[in-house]
Amino acid sequence: MNLFLRKPINAILTEAEEGNKLKRYLTTTNLTAVGIGAVIGAGIFVLTGTAAAQHAGPSLAISFVVSALGCLFAGLCYAEFASTIPVAGSAYTYGYATMGELPAWIIGWDLILEYLFGAATVSVGWSGYVVSLLKDFGIHLPEKICNSPVIYNSAAGGWEYTGAIINFPAVFVVVFMTAFLVVGIKESARFNNIVVLIKIVVILLFIGFGISYIDTSNWIPFVPANTGSWGNFGISGILAGAGVVFFAYVGFDAVSTASQEAKNPQKSMPKAILYTLIICTILYIAVALVLTGIVNYKYLDVPAPIALAIDRVGSSLSWLQIIVKVGAIAGLSSVVLVLLYGQSRIFYTMSQDGLLWKSFSRTHPKFKTPYITSIVVGGLAALLGGLFPIGILGHMVSIGTLLAFIIVSVGIMILRKKEPDLPRAFRTPLVPLVPILSIVICLGIMVSLPLDTWIRLIAWMLIGFVIYFTYSKKHSKIRKF
Ligand code: ALA
Repeated sequence: MNLFLRKPINAILTEAEEGNKLKRYLTTTNLTAVGIGAVIGAGIFVLTGTAAAQHAGPSLAISFVVSALGCLFAGLCYAEFASTIPVAGSAYTYGYATMGELPAWIIGWDLILEYLFGAATVSVGWSGYVVSLLKDFGIHLPEKICNSPVIYNSAAGGWEYTGAIINFPAVFVVVFMTAFLVVGIKESARFNNIVVLIKIVVILLFIGFGISYIDTSNWIPFVPANTGSWGNFGISGILAGAGVVFFAYVGFDAVSTASQEAKNPQKSMPKAILYTLIICTILYIAVALVLTGIVNYKYLDVPAPIALAIDRVGSSLSWLQIIVKVGAIAGLSSVVLVLLYGQSRIFYTMSQDGLLWKSFSRTHPKFKTPYITSIVVGGLAALLGGLFPIGILGHMVSIGTLLAFIIVSVGIMILRKKEPDLPRAFRTPLVPLVPILSIVICLGIMVSLPLDTWIRLIAWMLIGFVIYFTYSKKHSKIRKF
């Protein structure tokens, strides 16, 4: 029974307020920047090309809509939770309040896949762009220090050594961003705001200048005929494409990890979550249309599709080439920053509940940041980014995030039953329809992910159970309520 003890919401709120050693600094605009900072990154700058070339063709724009709908329905559930329980732990805390300790642990452990693995994944994308930009300036980094030393050969079912030693640029960006987080939230927020502005401007430049180079014949047929196998164009291609580009939306919920540093969390949280989703969806659809309009989708299977499109236009836009690469590098940095930030705040809250070691919630006497957890998170993410390829990491991020969305959607239905009278600054509309739609779409996208990824998810969860039963359960503070 103890495994399902819930933490009373009033206790969560009081404890968060009394024990809050974090500074309340973030406004709705800052929080929306946190969301966009985490969202626009490798998904749009790296993965769009593959999704168009292998799955959806010009109908990639529809894939973005499908994925956005899943995120929007989940986001509406997040928004109610975030306005009701504005505490730093995000979905983990929501789980603790509605479903009990073990489910909360499962979410907390699962969120590591979204945040820590997410930061590692994007650091690998960052490395790719930096290597390519340096090449443009005639600087060639040795392959041995900018690739992952192992790859997974799914046909042979095993890991293979690539000959590389480490992906050094990936390690570098994680270490650099970790240093920012240790120094302070104010500095990090300022850096994030600037970078978010840069990446939005770069995307708008691409859309604005690219639009006049669209050749509408590239959009015909808008939904290429299915080739006979599931996911290769046609309707199933749109769905498979949605599975790939889901990664592009990962991170909007990072807004909810910043609750304890928000000035007015009840009002700002739901707004920032929804603004982030709306802004990013509009930008993504526009980029997908311009991209597939300039270059025929068949040629888009490259690591830097936007750069390819600019190349195709010819010399008139070559000035934009460098700007796009610099913008992508800046954009990917902020994704790494915000995901590392989110992870450290989740560990902070879990540690305050006794489920993780005490030192994880120790704050720095001068900087007032949870520096130990930031350093541990940064160290682990640097290791993952330095050693593993982007594909494996990215799939783990998607499956982990989708699972979290499903649990949060179930949680909202439980919250409505168990705490119907709780004051809510924001209510998810049309409950239970919206959470059920969220669950159905997220499950659909999860099913499109490879079997290997499912097996890794199960293995990950088993490790989580071992830690829970050997450490967390014994040290949990819940029994005092
Ligand atoms: N959504 C983030 C990205 O695309 C994780 O990089």
